[in-house]
Amino acid sequence: MELTIALLAGDGIGPEVIQQAVKVCDAVATKFNHQIHWKPALTGAAAIDAVGDPYPDSTHDICVNSDAVLFGAIGHPRFDNDPSAKVRPEQGLLKMRQKLGLFANVRPTFTFESLIDRSPLKRERIEGTDLVFLRELTGGIYFGKRGREDNGDTAYDTCTYTRMEVKRLAKKGFELAMKRSKKLCCVDKANVLESSRLWRETVQAMEKDYPEVEVSYEFVDAVAMRLVQWPNSYDVLITENLFGDILTDEASVISGSMGLMPSASIGESIGLYEPIHGSYPQAAGKDIANPLATVLSAAMMFDDLGLPDEANAIRMVVNKSLAEGMVTEDLADKNKGRKTSEVGNWLAKNL
Ligand code: IPM
Ligand code: MN
Repeated sequence: MELTIALLAGDGIGPEVIQQAVKVCDAVATKFNHQIHWKPALTGAAAIDAVGDPYPDSTHDICVNSDAVLFGAIGHPRFDNDPSAKVRPEQGLLKMRQKLGLFANVRPTFTFESLIDRSPLKRERIEGTDLVFLRELTGGIYFGKRGREDNGDTAYDTCTYTRMEVKRLAKKGFELAMKRSKKLCCVDKANVLESSRLWRETVQAMEKDYPEVEVSYEFVDAVAMRLVQWPNSYDVLITENLFGDILTDEASVISGSMGLMPSASIGESIGLYEPIHGSYPQAAGKDIANPLATVLSAAMMFDDLGLPDEANAIRMVVNKSLAEGMVTEDLADKNKGRKTSEVGNWLAKNL
């Protein structure tokens, strides 16, 4: 099979971890007789520096003409403490989500037996955790009406949802639940927010189309609590943009390393695959960042491209690297950490 993949390395450790994922994907291609055409494109602070736009049209063109987008990270500390900055790297990510119609962010959280004791949570609390968040990604407060009044002394951001937006996200949730344990949790704040009541009402109306799926409705504050008490009691969770942003960061620490958690952003057509850890500027250029989240994101990409054997081959070699201690410093015993590039080379060779 011929595959064209847009390669958006972005900022910070993005280029280093992306490079390892490319090595692994190329090894997969060799093993399964595919050919991958990589199309590098600018994004984030790197794109602001080069062309003044964190998601330039040239990058968008490359993305829409590809089968998938593999994405590193976006963000640069130079913008973080400068509220006056007119263009920010993060805007590139939001623009990309919107222009590519990526309305659902799929974030799994699972545990690895060999790492379970690295989790900040007790073993018995997290053993068997295997949940997936579907976070709505192109609506809500991130994209609502915002502004200032009162000479700048009052600011507002509005959370708006349409029934259509809720429905298409929930549909993905029901479909995923059907493929998994047929349990779906709708996370909202319907005791307070009108937009949450629209969510609940819309999901309730869809229940009859999926009679096998057992749906529960929980308030976001309660979910935040149960997520660290009994994460293994959840399976598929659907929620709006901001709740999902917060809860998926919370969930990411359960497994013991944020450096391991992949994600996919999907919509009508093309998907975008990215590690959830961000640009981690302190580690940039040091060849120490954990490439496994990006490599596992590539596995999600192969799954969505209808190539599950390729995806499983990646997951297997990642498990092997964990079991054999071929890991970066975040997962290694003191002074035993391997370099980012060394882990990438090892994975490609052992696939
Ligand atoms: C994420 C990030 C982004 C978000 C930022 C960088 C805009 O935190 O992907 O979760 O808030 O969606
Ligand atoms: Mn986030």
